[in-house]
Order: sequence, then structure tokens, then C-alpha cells
Amino acid sequence: MASTAKQEPPAQENPLSEGLERLPVHPTTLTIFGAVGDLSKRKLLPAIYNLAHEGALPERFNLIGSSRGVMSDDEFRELARESIRSFSRRRADEQVLSALLEHVRYVAGSFDDPEVYEQIAACNREFDEQAGIVFNRAYYLATAPAFFSVVVGRLGEHGLDHNEGSEVRVVIEKPIGTNLREAEGLNRSVLDVLDEEQVYRIDHYLGKETVQNMLAFRFANGLFEPVWNRNYIDYVQITSSEDIGIGTRAGYYDGSGALRDLVQNHMLQLLTLLCMEPPVAFSADEVRDEKVKVLRAIHPPTLEEVMFMAVRAQYGPGVSAGEAAKGYLEEEDVPPDSTTETYAALRLEVDNWRWAGVPIYLRTGKRLARKVTEIAVTLKPVPHLAFRQEGSVGVQPNQIVLTMQPNEGVSISIGAKIPGTRMRIRPVNMQFLYGTAFMSESPEAYERLIMDVMRGDATLFTRDDEVEAQWTIVDPILEAWSNASGPIPQYSAGSGGPEEADALIEGEHRWRAI
Ligand code: BG6
Repeated sequence: MASTAKQEPPAQENPLSEGLERLPVHPTTLTIFGAVGDLSKRKLLPAIYNLAHEGALPERFNLIGSSRGVMSDDEFRELARESIRSFSRRRADEQVLSALLEHVRYVAGSFDDPEVYEQIAACNREFDEQAGIVFNRAYYLATAPAFFSVVVGRLGEHGLDHNEGSEVRVVIEKPIGTNLREAEGLNRSVLDVLDEEQVYRIDHYLGKETVQNMLAFRFANGLFEPVWNRNYIDYVQITSSEDIGIGTRAGYYDGSGALRDLVQNHMLQLLTLLCMEPPVAFSADEVRDEKVKVLRAIHPPTLEEVMFMAVRAQYGPGVSAGEAAKGYLEEEDVPPDSTTETYAALRLEVDNWRWAGVPIYLRTGKRLARKVTEIAVTLKPVPHLAFRQEGSVGVQPNQIVLTMQPNEGVSISIGAKIPGTRMRIRPVNMQFLYGTAFMSESPEAYERLIMDVMRGDATLFTRDDEVEAQWTIVDPILEAWSNASGPIPQYSAGSGGPEEADALIEGEHRWRAI
């Protein structure tokens, strides 16, 4: 065994931890379980390449791929090279690519086969011995969810859950269970083997620049905080619409549906960042403590309340991007009698001092008119319009829109006088756009998240209690929907969603156009 002295490579910038101790990136051996799957090929391997391209990876970095299919180290290296060439956001530089893929191993076998773990342990040891240092170990579970506890259990049985002289971290993809009970079971089996500090549960939305910008927007500006409460905010709308259908993912999606696929994780995460109290520090636990408080302040509906606060629907045939689009039931491998929702809209309330009484509307769906992820915060109307006698029409409440995609940025609508001799008002937008303000391409969410795993910063990962609090909100809705009889409401592919969603929205409030 090599010396256990840790090498201290240069520190990396962590914008969220400014002022805190910078976290160095220790040399790491990353093992990807499910290394030839879609996630690995499309997202993880290209993200690792882009980190290498930017010089952000630790100087010494090794990769172990593991999957069922038999192949040699060289064949896996070739597969990784091809995936990076096809899916990297920037053109692959062959020199960087070759340097990155120099220290690559492949271990074939099924995830419950003890031999796989023996081989992975041997590869880890060899990397340590060759380099004369002890690498940190990161295990990335890019497998089907059924294998999460199997892999973690085996890591424990083979003593791979800890390592003398270095850190061991395990990354788990979503979904964490399909309901609260399963999530608790999975968390328990993972925490039987690992400490919570070793577990990195991915919600890739947290890796997005624009999502992190919400923290900067709220807590780096004195302007917004005074109005960020029930006294000034009338309602909030969070939208995550997609124009694509389910493609070839019926096997996963039909058992999931929109509520589990997007609301339980990504959308509730957006909500927590929008509503949380300022954390004392941007450390993993301080931030996550505040997020959990928001989730706990959302009262889970009773089964009877679900029909008044949640709407589900499924896309029927229609027209998308000018072309005829199939309905959900005609998609490949979808059972013809499926009642899985491809659209979900909810009305939630965060029942605390800051937010009580402010409706928070969430909606998501596949095959809607366009792809948009945004949060729109509408302020209360002004209490008195002094110049109404001038025939002033067009005065609208101020709206702050945080756009995650497309056209990433922030806009604020304000009432302005239309030039002329009369006092006529209309809303105009003040806008900040990422593209023009920074003139640089944002990294992919996975780049940031893989980097954070290597530097041991769990701020942008979900903690066990957070995931469980998310399921606590969603569980009764799932239950009420699974008990519901009768057909599921429909909307046309390419439309703005089902009419039924209008019933959720109160009084003067309106859904924004998709
Ligand atoms: C994934 C869902 O988590 O997020 C997909 O499983 C969805 O169904 C995707 O398409 C959306 O992510 P993004 O980054 O494209 O908004």
C-alpha cells in the first residue's frame, strides 16, 4: 500500500462558498456503475471531459467504468471517446481526450456479483500504487434505481465504503424511491452502510447556473429581500414545460408520470430556493436546513383536498413544431389503457410567517407548446391609482421572472408612461440576459455537480430528510390519483395544457402563456 499522505492540489473556486474555506480537489478515482448507459454516455463522460478541458479536474484522475457487457479497457476507452465526441458541449480536443483516457479501467459484471467489487477494489489499489498516493474514491450510481441499494450494500460488504487515508463518496441519481415509504427504505439501506456526509443525491436542476443564480439574486441584492414576502407578493408561478414527448422512455415514464418525474424533485427544489430564509452560511447543512424548513411548511393535502389543488392530464394527438404529433397512448411501448399523467399542475402554500396565504402554482408537462423553465413572481397591485381620471389603462402588477431556460436571465416588468400628451401606462421590461451579460457559455449541470462531489461540497445535493419531505407533499396526490376513476383529462400535443388547470388558479391570477 502506498503512503497515506494526502497531496494538496490547488484550491478550486466555489462561488457559493465565498468567504468560507476553499475546498481543495483531492486526486480522485471515479467509478461509474452503468458506465455504458445513456446517462453516462450523454452526460457524465462529456461532463468529465469538459472539466478536463478547463483544467478543473484534479491533476491525477482515474476512471473505472462498470456495466454488464463484456469489453476490454481499450474498448471502453473507445466508447468513452466516441460518447465525448458526440455529446460534449465543446469540440473534443484529441490531446485533452487522450490524456484524460489514459487512466481508465473497465470492470464487467452484474451489479450484484461480488467479483465486480473485488475487481473494482483491485483497480483502486493499483491506481494508488502506481501513483504513490491514496486517491479519494467516488462511486457514481448511474444505474436503474432497483440497483441503488444493491450496489451500496455490496460496496459495504467489500469494505469499499471507507478507505484508510482518503474519502469515499457515493453519488445516487434520481429517483429516490417512487413514494415516501420506498424513499425511506432506500435512505435507510444506504445509511446502514454510509454516513450521510458520504452520500450525494443528485437533482441535476441544482447544478444549473440559472438555478444557482436564484441564490445570488435573492441574497446578493438588497433590493428584493424587503418585498420577498406575503405583504408584497401576490402569487408565484413555477413552470417547467417541455415540447418533447416521452420518446423511447415509456418503460420508465409510464410507471412514473409527471408528478414523480419533475414535481417531486426539480420543481420542489426550485420552490425551496425561492422561498427559503437566508442561510447563516452557504455550507451544505445550513442551506439544506433552510430548504427542509420550507418543505415542512407545505401542508400535505388530504385525499379530499387533492381534487381542489392538483390537476393531471395526458397529451392526446396534436401538432408540435408544425408537425403532426402522436398522443401519449400511441407512443412506443405505452400500454393502450395507461392513465399516467404527462401534465401536472398544483396549487401549494408555504405556511409560514413569510409566505402564508401566497398561492404557489406549479405546472409541468410533456408535449406542450414550448420548452420553458421559469419562476414568475407577481407583486400585489398598487393600492391606489392617482391618475385613473386620465384614462390610464394598462397598469399591471410588477412581475419578476427568473428564466432558467431558454434565454436564461431575469426580467422585471414595471409600469412606464407611454410617450405622449396623455398619462397612459404600459408594462415595460428591465432585463438581464446571461448570454449578453457574461458572453460565456454556461457549464452543463453535471460538470458543476461532479466537481462538487470531488471537492466534497454537498450544498447542491439533496439530503435524506429533504427527499423525504418532498415525498410527504407528493404522496397524497399520487394516492388520490391512483384511486381516481374515470378517464384522465386530455390536452392536445403542442398546446398550452389542459383547460382543467384554469380551475386551479384563483381570482385575478392567470397562467402565463407557454
Ligand atoms: C429529467 C426528467 O429529470 O429532467 C426528464 O426525467 C426531463 O423527463 C428532464 O425531460 C428535464 O431536464 P432539463 O434539464 O432538460 O430541464
